[in-house]
Amino acid sequence: MKKQKLIGPISQVLTLDHLPLKGALKDDQLELIEQAGILIEGEKIFQVGPWEKLIKDFPKAEIHELKGDFVALPGLVDCHTHICFGGSRARDFAMRNAGKTYLEIAQAGGGIWDTVTQTRKLSQADLAKITGNHANRHLSEGVTTIEVKSGYGLSVEEELKMLRAIQEAKSLTSADLIPTCLAAHMKPKDFSGSNSEYLHLISHELFPSLKKEKLTHRIDAFVEKSAFSPDEIKPYFQKAKEMSFDLTVHADQFTVGGSKVAVDFNAKSADHLEASGDAETHYLAKSNTISVALPGASLGLGCAFTPARKVLNLGGALAIASDWNPGSAPMGDLLAQASILATFEKLSTAEVLAGITFRAAAALGLADRGKLTQGQLADFILFPTKDYREILYHQGKMKPMEVWKSGSKEVR
Ligand code: NIG
Ligand code: FE
Repeated sequence: MKKQKLIGPISQVLTLDHLPLKGALKDDQLELIEQAGILIEGEKIFQVGPWEKLIKDFPKAEIHELKGDFVALPGLVDCHTHICFGGSRARDFAMRNAGKTYLEIAQAGGGIWDTVTQTRKLSQADLAKITGNHANRHLSEGVTTIEVKSGYGLSVEEELKMLRAIQEAKSLTSADLIPTCLAAHMKPKDFSGSNSEYLHLISHELFPSLKKEKLTHRIDAFVEKSAFSPDEIKPYFQKAKEMSFDLTVHADQFTVGGSKVAVDFNAKSADHLEASGDAETHYLAKSNTISVALPGASLGLGCAFTPARKVLNLGGALAIASDWNPGSAPMGDLLAQASILATFEKLSTAEVLAGITFRAAAALGLADRGKLTQGQLADFILFPTKDYREILYHQGKMKPMEVWKSGSKEVR
């Protein structure tokens, strides 16, 4: 039998049990277990229940006793990041705030291409180290599962380097890293053919290596006027589907079109959606594609927020992610951003917590995490308070005191 550990007493455990994948949620739907313990066996949760009862029922369990008030949540899941990158885009930030346009910034050598240039200069080991450091900062703030995109390589070899670096970074962090290929981020400036020719090259020459080296099972694309049109991306997604990749889309960030492609290809998620109108939110809400709000990009660019309230009211599934990247979302603080989105979009605590736990896990195709129930991974975080509402109220300033990943306490 695997070793059992009992953690507690915990003032409130929010199990998130019984909450559905889709639709609006009220806080009185949250399952709260008071004066509770979490019993884990190996990497998984065995039982969550009243502390006194667990102590009696499992006398042989090793006890990890807590002193003071704590609220436990499932470990957070960040289902959209670009934390594997070189350089900084502080100059873009300053230019944007000085009123320069996207085009002017790109012409001055900024934008995604700047990060591609910086990232290409780094070795796989350097990139792995940067990714591991970013992941560990996230982990210390309670994010136990982190999606990581490529997309700053933009050639077969450079994308392979990034995705190999993300694999290498797995040995530098105990957070789970979920890699995604975003070779369709933009057509690289050093490629002389058309958008379609670039996508054809990637799908025919990179996709087979992704499978062969098991680098990722996920393909993303930036569907946008400045990147790839819906018509250009369809054959690319068709090829990805034929090869059994899961899909996710950077959709409707500035102009619409991407979310329809996402739903039509049964993508796991459509992310951004700041520009989505009624037609788009209705279409998303009745689909199986999860809508992902990226408040960090709205804050970074000074743009509108994703219509999260609307998606939920229409019965859709809403996850919230950081989009941590050097250009539009350098902050990389999931809890702060989700709290801020809540105030602008009037989201309940239950909706925010679902959006950064099991609904975000679903956007990654993962059903083994995001709730504190029997058989789920023992990923949980402990905040120093006795009232769960304090967590979002502090807008990210209250950090977890303890982070547990797969049944082990993170040592900091
Ligand atoms: O998700 N929208 C496109 N891609 C990123 C930005 C990447 C960058 O600017 O480096 C995003 O916001
Ligand atoms: Fe992004």
